Amino acid sequence: MKILITGGTGYIGSHTAVELIKDGHEVVIVDDLSNSFEDVIDKIKTITNVLVPFHKIDCKNYDLLDKLFKEENFDGIIHFAGFKAVGESTKEPLKYYENNLLSTINLAKLMEKYDVSHFIFSSSATVYGDQPSPLSEKSPLMETTNPYGETKKMCERILNDYAKNRSDKTIVLLRYFNPIGAHKSGLLGEIPQGTPNNLMPYITQVASKKRDKLFIFGNDYDTVDGTGVRDYIHVVDLAKGHLAALNKANKGCSVYNLGTGVGISVLELVETFKKINKIDIPYEIVARRAGDIATVYASSEKAFKELNWETSLSVEDMVRDSWNFEKNIE
Ligand code: UFG
Repeated sequence: MKILITGGTGYIGSHTAVELIKDGHEVVIVDDLSNSFEDVIDKIKTITNVLVPFHKIDCKNYDLLDKLFKEENFDGIIHFAGFKAVGESTKEPLKYYENNLLSTINLAKLMEKYDVSHFIFSSSATVYGDQPSPLSEKSPLMETTNPYGETKKMCERILNDYAKNRSDKTIVLLRYFNPIGAHKSGLLGEIPQGTPNNLMPYITQVASKKRDKLFIFGNDYDTVDGTGVRDYIHVVDLAKGHLAALNKANKGCSVYNLGTGVGISVLELVETFKKINKIDIPYEIVARRAGDIATVYASSEKAFKELNWETSLSVEDMVRDSWNFEKNIE
C-alpha cells in the first residue's frame, strides 16, 4: 500500500517508516520539522536503502496537503504529527487544541475527498486517566490532567464519529503506553528539545554527563518501591504494531492498546539501565510531579488476538538501545 506518514521524521514515525518499507509498503513522509530533523530521511535510507519522498508541510495547512493528496494516490494515512509535551500543553492549551485537532480534521477530510481506505491514529494511554491497571480497551475514558490528553480523546472521538457513517473505511486508534529504546543501528531515536520531560531521555543524558543527576518524582506511591510504575515498550515493537494494524485491522473503527502488559518502576528501570550499560546513574528523590499517576500498564490481549501482534523486545533491549542511540548523538 502507499502510505502517508505525518510526523514521519519524529521518534515513532521514523521507526514506523522503516518497518513499513521492510514489509514492502511505499512511504511518503510529511513533517513540519518543529520537533525533528530532515536528516532522518537519509538515516532511513541508510537502514532500508529507500529514499523516502519528504515534504515539509504543517498539517494545519489544508491546501498544501490537498495538493499532495491530489498528486499521490494514498491508500492509507498514519498520523503521528502532533504536539506532545504534557507540561507545555497546560501553559499553551490553545496551541495544542488548534494544532492537534485541526491536523486530524484536515487529514480525515482528505481521506474522504480522495477515497483513502486506511487511517491509523497515534493515541495515548493518557485517555484512560487515573484508574486501576491493567487498562483494557473496554476501560472507560476518563478526565485527563492536561490539554494534551484531551486532544487525544477529542481526535479519537472525531475519527470514531466519522467512521460511523463510513463502514467501508478502516480507522484504527492506537493507544501507546511508554515508548523507549531506539533503532538497533543507533541512527534513529528520540532527540528531546531542551530539558527532557520523559524519563528515558533524561536517564541517557545523565549517563552521557549532559546532566548531573536524575530527579525521581516521588517515592511514596503505593507501588513496589514507592516510585511510579509504567509499561515501557520498545519503539520498534510499537512501530510493528502500526504495521499489524495496517495489514490486519478490520473495516470500521477499532481501538488497540500497544503496551507489553508489564509495569516496572522508575527505580527498576534505572537499575536495569545501570546493570546492562555498566554506567552509574546518580539520582535524587524529589516531590511528586503534578498530574502523575502511580501505576499505568496495559492489557494488550486484544492486539495479540486480533492483530496477531505481540512485543518481542525486553527491558534490557530497551535500555541498551536507548544508550546506544545517545552515544551516537554525542
Ligand atoms: N519520571 C521521573 N523523573 C523524570 C521523568 C519522569 O521520576 O525526570 C517518572 C514519572 O514520575 C513517571 C515515570 O518516570 O513515574 C514516567 O514518566 P514519563 O514522563 O517518561 O512518562 P509518563 O508516563 O508521565 O507520560 C507518558 C507520555 C505522555 C502520555 C503518557 C500516557 O510522555 O505523552 O505516558 O500514560 F500521555
